[in-house]
Amino acid sequence: MKKKNLIVFGTRPEAIKMAPLVKAFLNDDSFDTKVCVTAQHREMLDQVLDFFEIIPDYDLNVMKPNQNLYSLTATIIEGMKPVLDEVKPDYIYVHGDTTTSMAVGIAGFYAGAKVCHVEAGLRTYDRQYPFPEEFNRQLTGRIADYHFAPTAGSKENLLQERTLNDRILVTGNTVIDALLFGIEKVTSPGYSDAEIEMLNAKVDLSKRLILVTGHRRENHGEGLLNICTALKTIAQEYPDTQIIYPVHLNPNVKGPVHELLEGVSNILLVPPLAYPAFIWLMEKSYLIITDSGGIQEEAPSLGKPVLVTRTTTERPEAVSEGTVLLVGTDAERITLKTKQLLDDDAYYKNMSQLHNPYGDGKSVARIVSYIKTL
Ligand code: UD1
Ligand code: UDP
Repeated sequence: MKKKNLIVFGTRPEAIKMAPLVKAFLNDDSFDTKVCVTAQHREMLDQVLDFFEIIPDYDLNVMKPNQNLYSLTATIIEGMKPVLDEVKPDYIYVHGDTTTSMAVGIAGFYAGAKVCHVEAGLRTYDRQYPFPEEFNRQLTGRIADYHFAPTAGSKENLLQERTLNDRILVTGNTVIDALLFGIEKVTSPGYSDAEIEMLNAKVDLSKRLILVTGHRRENHGEGLLNICTALKTIAQEYPDTQIIYPVHLNPNVKGPVHELLEGVSNILLVPPLAYPAFIWLMEKSYLIITDSGGIQEEAPSLGKPVLVTRTTTERPEAVSEGTVLLVGTDAERITLKTKQLLDDDAYYKNMSQLHNPYGDGKSVARIVSYIKTL
């Protein structure tokens, strides 16, 4: 009897990080694998599905404009019931720390499936930062039967919480599997991409590029305003740089960012980029300013320094290695650290080492092999 898998995800980062797992399971005859998307994100999810050529078997299509956590959670749990009734999975796979991960984990447990948590064990141990992700990840960890931890540190967190050692596997982060697949596809002969062509036409690549993203709920309001103030100052003081900001579609981000930065010379605001154009742009960047989890993990593979506009991170490994620096959301500190990277070559060189503590691109193979042993 084939093992029945159900892989579920809903947002852009989950889709990127689960795509290599979907491909590996679908290519393996010992499994019967189905894919369900909650579509907690719509356009930003579809960009990823297109690039990785994934056609979901089920699509809950839950996204509402400016959705709230209460109805999102309830809608996902309810929406999963008919899917679980039909698929009756032995194993259900959820990723990371989103509302989709947590709500699908609960639904999977109700259905009696073994819950497999990919990217398990990351912690800040402060439930307000990031909100609600730290809570989502801890809760999913309590629900899960099997934990795929990206690093030894994340395994250690799980052990401290009395998770059974033989239920945890250190795999590396599947984002590196996705990144390597993405780079290979984007650099293959004959690959063409309309977004990359648009960026090539609009961006002066002789300037030093500063790539910016941001979306964290706890940065909405004042934090975002401070970040935009810092970006304006940098743009004005360094006309030899080009800031590029693919703006997240969350109205609490898109509204203020466009209001504050639209029309500032050498700041280019663009809609969220599909994964190939984004990794192309990361590779061309001089430095990155972001509050994104995934970008903190990808950038060290490309040797790009990252200033993280947060005060805590559940990803301490690259901070310890010195390629990622937490700068918070104070405008002066963001400006100061950016200037240091732009002015001080030795400091820049130190932060742009090419080494990645988050994986070697074989995470998915480790997960598949482990499930085969069960
Ligand atoms: C969500 C996750 C966060 C993750 C982030 C990745 C939760 C609570 N939050 O935050 O952990 O880091 O995704 O980007 O799970 N929207 C669109 N189109 C899209 C996507 C979003 O219009 O394709 C708009 C909608 O108005 C939507 C809003 O953004 O209601 C917020 O989306 P939501 O998924 O609730 O929150 P994010 O801030 O995206
Ligand atoms: N990303 C992308 N297009 C963009 C911005 C980011 O494809 O315009 C990718 C990025 O390479 C990373 C992931 O999206 O893999 C990060 O997603 P996000 O920042 O939304 O979420 P987080 O990682 O913070 O949960």
